Amino acid sequence: MVHEQAVARDAPAVGALVRHAAGPDAAAAIVDMLRRCSVDTLFHRMLGLSRDAADQLVAPVRHGSPAGRVDLVAQRGCVVVGWGCLVPENGVWEVALVVEDSWQGRGVGDQLARALLARAADSGVLPVRAVTAPGNRRVASLIGRCAEIVRPPTTTSDDIEYWLAPQERGRDT
Ligand SMILES: CC(C)(COP(=O)(O)OP(=O)(O)OC[C@H]1O[C@@H](n2cnc3c(N)ncnc32)[C@H](O)[C@@H]1OP(=O)(O)O)[C@@H](O)C(=O)NCCC(=O)NCCS
Repeated sequence: MVHEQAVARDAPAVGALVRHAAGPDAAAAIVDMLRRCSVDTLFHRMLGLSRDAADQLVAPVRHGSPAGRVDLVAQRGCVVVGWGCLVPENGVWEVALVVEDSWQGRGVGDQLARALLARAADSGVLPVRAVTAPGNRRVASLIGRCAEIVRPPTTTSDDIEYWLAPQERGRDT
């Protein structure tokens, strides 16, 4: 069983539900999802770490998400198809997410990103940092759709660092 608390604010577009995740069962379901991901997807989520690093990455979920940390999963039934987290890192809050390949392009990343940014706003930890590889078009597009970029991104040859807040609603109206 995945421990949960529904947090999705909009109706799920693909029949996946975004829930809070914590505990050993949630961790096992996330590791299973990471094992179904392609090397490319894992590379982008972990900036080069291998599949073997999945266990380590998920360890905080297994041990009950330390204070302040937020882990959300997108589930289809009891199968986890996406995972996002909001994590304190060296004095700033970092947001990261991954959606398994066969579920990409169906709005799951959109749901996770919006839910995580809403959590960050509720917790008063804005702006949050997101780090991605320079060629990661999907993330750039997701950020453009779901977030406000509140500082100019910093680009190196290895990564791009974004500082984000939730998208202002109704800014075009
Ligand atoms: C980046 C990532 C999380 C995006 O997840 P996703 O579920 O594919 O994202 P979405 O489905 O919300 O959006 C992807 C596309 O589907 C489209 N889409 C299709 N159906 C949609 C729906 N119902 N709702 C919203 N968007 C939808 C979006 O418009 C978007 O198109 P675009 O890329 O041309 O802008 C995913 O590609 C991934 O896991 N990548 C590898 C890991 C990674 O890069 N992580 C980020 C660094 S931490």
